[in-house]
Amino acid sequence: MNFTGSNILSVNQFDRDSIDYIFSVADKMQPYARRRTRTRVLDGAILGNLFFEPSTRTRVSFGTAFNLLGGEVRETTGMESSAIAKGESLYDTARVLSSYSDVIAMRHPKSGSVREFAEGSRVPVINGGDGANEHPTQALLDLYTIQKELAYHQQSIDNMHICMIGDLKYGRTVHSLSTLLSMYKNIKFTLISPRELSMPGSVLDTLENAGHRVNVTEKVDGIVDADIVYQTRIQQERFASPEDADQYRGKFRLNQDIYTKHYKPNTVIMHPLPRDSRAEANELDNDLNQNPNLAIFRQADNGVLIRMALFALTLGVVDQVDKHQCEVNWYSEKSQQ
Ligand code: CP
Repeated sequence: MNFTGSNILSVNQFDRDSIDYIFSVADKMQPYARRRTRTRVLDGAILGNLFFEPSTRTRVSFGTAFNLLGGEVRETTGMESSAIAKGESLYDTARVLSSYSDVIAMRHPKSGSVREFAEGSRVPVINGGDGANEHPTQALLDLYTIQKELAYHQQSIDNMHICMIGDLKYGRTVHSLSTLLSMYKNIKFTLISPRELSMPGSVLDTLENAGHRVNVTEKVDGIVDADIVYQTRIQQERFASPEDADQYRGKFRLNQDIYTKHYKPNTVIMHPLPRDSRAEANELDNDLNQNPNLAIFRQADNGVLIRMALFALTLGVVDQVDKHQCEVNWYSEKSQQ
């Protein structure tokens, strides 16, 4: 895949070679993300960071990644503070904002909206999540994390067993991650959700057509020999009302006691975050925070590396990052880690 000048809209754009290449670039970003050194390779470049739906990790890590490469960030957050609230089309917004930016990251509550926006943009557009459809950069960082966590236990993605749990209907991260995983070999998928919130048929078809073993269930028994457990939140914002979402909250909780009794040692626990820590949901209890197999914060950290890699690739500067190095002059705890 030729990344320079390309949009990143869907995981369907990638194959295993392009994924491996992104991950190799992400690895090279470690010293910059850790503040051991810095680079000004994107000095003068501007990221338009447009988030029309709430976000902490994706929005801030896109901005951080761009800043770490030496570029500047302009943000719009919330539909109400944008001219879209006055009826402006996504096409017009894209035409205008793309002349203010060199690359745009965008999140929007409607499926397909980021692709529609990209049609009006004259600069690369990166999908930061479009409704219940896709979240390709999250899927890349999830896959990168899975690879690292399994490698630590001398395992590989091929032949692993992954359990995805929770709201698999509206959770866009599990759609994109499943599609990426379909490119690997002989994976066992256990997909645990209430029947009404099960994985869309199109994703199941992708997995089955690629020859993977798929078990769709409402029971948690199948978790016992999982290598990766990927918890998700009930996506309240996609339901007709909070009361509709309430009926599914708290059905699949995980805490240290359950982990100790029912999981095999070293099962890696993942979650795209935010986890819903309210008592009625609490899908990942805080008592897991000291569990070394809880990978959720390493997962979020990896988001910066993956997004740095995607910016370096789409803006065509991968080979120049190290040439624009400079010293870190301030005390940084990160560089001591
Ligand atoms: N994982 C994720 O998309 O988190 P945010 O909603 O905080 O961006």
